[in-house]
Amino acid sequence: MIVCHCRGISDTDIHAAIDWMRAADPRTVITPGKVYRALGTAADCGGCLPLFLDTMRSNDNMPVPAGLRRLRRDTNEGSPTCKATARSSTT
Ligand code: FES
Repeated sequence: MIVCHCRGISDTDIHAAIDWMRAADPRTVITPGKVYRALGTAADCGGCLPLFLDTMRSNDNMPVPAGLRRLRRDTNEGSPTCKATARSSTT
């Protein structure tokens, strides 16, 4: 099924690009822009983006790897989010 009519990208192309990127780097964060670049092109009108994202989300290799999930929450627990906030709360 053609997902992006401007560039002639099919759902098979998107899945292949995601599988390739995940195999090349298990820790990579996959974005639509990276998929377009992996396919040697870039988005044009952007009208396909909702279907493009739905197709990406349906790929089993799309989720962020388990080892990278919740890093922000874990690193910020118990510490202020910025120095300005910490300074104003102590005065
Ligand atoms: S349909 Fe995909 S960029 Fe236009």
